[in-house]
Amino acid sequence: MEPAWNTFVEGDNLDVLATLPADSFDLVYIDPPYNTGNDFAYRDDFRGERGEGARGRHAAWLAFMRPRLEAGRRVLAPTGAIFVSIDDHEAAYLRLLLDEVYGEENFLAQVVVNLNPKGRQLGRGFATSHEYLLVYARDAEQCVLDASSASTVVESDFPLEASDGRRYRRLPLRNTNKKFNPLTAPTLHFAVWGDPSSGRVSTAPFDGAVEIKPVFGDGTPAVWRWSRPRIDERPDDLECRAVRGPRGERVDVFQRDWRHPVGGRRKKLRTIWLAEEIGSTDTAVAELKDVLGHVFESPKPTGLVRRILDTMPADARVLDYFAGSGTTGHAVALANAADGGVRTCLSVNAPEPTRVGSNAERAGYATVSAITRARLRAVADQVGGGYRER
Ligand SMILES: C[S@@+](CC[C@H](N)C(=O)[O-])C[C@H]1O[C@@H](n2cnc3c(N)ncnc32)[C@H](O)[C@@H]1O
Repeated sequence: MEPAWNTFVEGDNLDVLATLPADSFDLVYIDPPYNTGNDFAYRDDFRGERGEGARGRHAAWLAFMRPRLEAGRRVLAPTGAIFVSIDDHEAAYLRLLLDEVYGEENFLAQVVVNLNPKGRQLGRGFATSHEYLLVYARDAEQCVLDASSASTVVESDFPLEASDGRRYRRLPLRNTNKKFNPLTAPTLHFAVWGDPSSGRVSTAPFDGAVEIKPVFGDGTPAVWRWSRPRIDERPDDLECRAVRGPRGERVDVFQRDWRHPVGGRRKKLRTIWLAEEIGSTDTAVAELKDVLGHVFESPKPTGLVRRILDTMPADARVLDYFAGSGTTGHAVALANAADGGVRTCLSVNAPEPTRVGSNAERAGYATVSAITRARLRAVADQVGGGYRER
């Protein structure tokens, strides 16, 4: 029998993590309480031990997180990675804690996630419109994370169309990185011949051609990205054009960079993820409303988690041990349905009581775990992949 795409375990994650085998997940995503003052229930002994005020608050949060990050690391495969959502309240403390638990050498990125594009309008000061994702490998040397995504390749990146209908964009054939120049790469500094009216390019002179040498924008000598034999082998992938630059018109050579069919091309992920690409807290609330109603205040958009999933193989074993409304499990089902993947997701959430008078309580959900469970069941019905409880 195929494993269910989604499995749920109710309980304190520290207890649940202790029951899971070592090295059994490829990807951990967590969105722990941010310690905003009302989303993190202090245990009385923490308050007594760690003192009052900001320092005590950070210390209590770190004491809560440390064993949970250590336990999460134990269950992560040596090829795996962890993504942790966090906002400004604890970002600096969490980064240092992750450096300690995972090792600074395994830090991969601190991504800015633009989840509130309008910016927070409450209170004084800046209208904060982002939070962060801290990304660490269990072991950077062995990690299989691919920091690129197929879904970030957009049609408008390839604005030109060849006569046979294939889409492409023009990339300068000259190397625009100043580290590469005739001194550092002398074999790539040579003249080619091109005709801007026909577009033809060759390493040998021909009728109607002008001689072109690679130069930087300021006119200093540059080098090509392709060797002579490569230019001769792929003349159809090159184009000669007259272009206007700051120093007047000149003739230059461009590579025709073809848009390959879906799945073929991936684009490097930048470290700023925009709401228009991955969704926002508002779109996340709407997604949850479609499945269960407005029963959770700050879910993450499935688009955020799908982008994370996209960095790992399509059979990744995913773990979210602060599952909340079950966004990660939802995103896993959507990703499998979209690309035929066989990812599995284990979601864990404590039976934390919902706030009296909240939408969730009025809708009959006495605990957050009841919400997680209900969403993952609904996702299995709507998207497929099955649902199991442990
Ligand atoms: C910020 S929310 C996660 C939201 C989630 N990413 C989503 O999109 O809905 C954090 C969740 O962690 C849960 N939680 C807090 N402490 C926990 C613990 N010790 N064990 C398990 N779950 C816990 C809370 O009930 C809350 O639902």
